[in-house]
Amino acid sequence: MSAHQLKARHLLYLNSSGCSDVLPEIVRRQGWEVQVASHSGQAHDLIAKRNYMVGLVHVDGSNLQQLARDLQHLKETNNAIHWVALLSDRELLLQPSSGILANYFYDYHTLPMDTKRLDFTLGHAYGMAEIASQAALARNESRFVQHRMIGKSACMQALFRKIHRVANLDLSVLIRGESGTGKELTAEAIHRTSSRAAGPFVAVNCGALPKDLIQTELFGHERGAFTGAQRRHIGRIEAASGGTLFLDEIGDLSLELQVNLLRFLQEKVIDRIGGSASLPVDVRIIAATNVDLEKAVEKGLFREDLYYRLNVLQLQIPPLRERPEDIPVLAEFFFNELSKRLPDGPKGFSQSSIDIMNSYSWPGNVRELINRVQRAVAMCEERIIKPQDLDLSGMAAVRNLITLTDARLQAERDAIITALKTTRNNVTRASKALGISRVTLYRLMETHGIDWQKQKIPECI
Ligand SMILES: Nc1ncnc2c1ncn2[C@@H]1O[C@H](COP(=O)(O)OP(=O)(O)OP(=O)(O)O)[C@@H](O)[C@H]1O
Ligand SMILES: [Mg+2]
Repeated sequence: MSAHQLKARHLLYLNSSGCSDVLPEIVRRQGWEVQVASHSGQAHDLIAKRNYMVGLVHVDGSNLQQLARDLQHLKETNNAIHWVALLSDRELLLQPSSGILANYFYDYHTLPMDTKRLDFTLGHAYGMAEIASQAALARNESRFVQHRMIGKSACMQALFRKIHRVANLDLSVLIRGESGTGKELTAEAIHRTSSRAAGPFVAVNCGALPKDLIQTELFGHERGAFTGAQRRHIGRIEAASGGTLFLDEIGDLSLELQVNLLRFLQEKVIDRIGGSASLPVDVRIIAATNVDLEKAVEKGLFREDLYYRLNVLQLQIPPLRERPEDIPVLAEFFFNELSKRLPDGPKGFSQSSIDIMNSYSWPGNVRELINRVQRAVAMCEERIIKPQDLDLSGMAAVRNLITLTDARLQAERDAIITALKTTRNNVTRASKALGISRVTLYRLMETHGIDWQKQKIPECI
């Protein structure tokens, strides 16, 4: 089951016939979240805000040409919505209506209303719309995954193109980006795409190796070169021969080692410690840093000549917060990967989790996202991952902030429902309490899809 199936099923009901009806209330009882539009402009605004899968339209035979124009316009805004028509048997047989049905609708429901049959039709339309949108996503997916990297954003797509371009130039590359943005993954992608792909890819973290070991780690040593050197040790540069050497955290390299590395880059030879001859080594260097190397050069902490040697080609990986389109794609990808190992685990993210992930700043970038999703999948005891499972419950989802217009509409709707509840649906008393005329109250109730004839105002509205 996909995450979408566990989310609320939203239904857009377009009823421009002007008559108040009980339908919204009936379908709400079937578990649908219904938003009512009394004209196509309102429907358009609702569609712009929410990703509807199903729309229901009351086709009453009047002004069908206008209805066709409206539906065309709505389809241009969101072509994924599966529209269902609600019409009488008689309308169904009339040519103008059936023509519109054939052109704009996925299915229809004939009146009188049969709650079960209508729910089945809407559910079927919803399922088909989901299948169609997932198939479209899968078609697009291969465009978003390249070099085992995921990225839908324009900047990641540009990075993929650059990886292709630099791969076969066989020049040094400097990769820059904050921690966890995918520098090592990019270096590997360059290697795998290059003519050296059959050779080794050797990664060295210059910041993690102890100072006194890094010299031997990089250049190797001969047997007996120093006390304890019982065997010859092949250094990482030599081990990368014919392939690529990835020097991570290059900014952490001591000045002394910078001199040695510079010599290697200039002469393409290494001297094993304790060795008597220089050895030629054919290696491509890719370096990465998350510090400002120019500043380090200014401060005398990084050799300028080495900086220029390494910085022949440069790739910059943007932080995750600058490419928010990638957040849901990455989250879904890692969720699916992890879920394969945990069939009884959660089935997806709640909408609030998705909203919070989208608005969170991700200081640890993709690595942090993987960690949070991993923890959530492992620890979540329910079917849906909530913000607290991601340890993001304290964050405010920017997406959840609503516009002033929406806030006013919500307040208006709440006030009407409270007035009706308190007056036991007595419209005259409710309108007095609200300080508006009965006619205005009827109009507002219709706009908000509130059914006054029902004895009980449903909880969900
Ligand atoms: N675009 C991406 N698609 C899929 N996985 C990614 C992507 N970017 C990063 N990752 C994953 O995120 C994690 C961190 O990536 P990586 O180690 O390459 O980052 P980094 O920039 O080298 O980090 P650091 O500066 O901390 O060394 C890895 O598990 C990597 O596979
Ligand atoms: Mg790294």
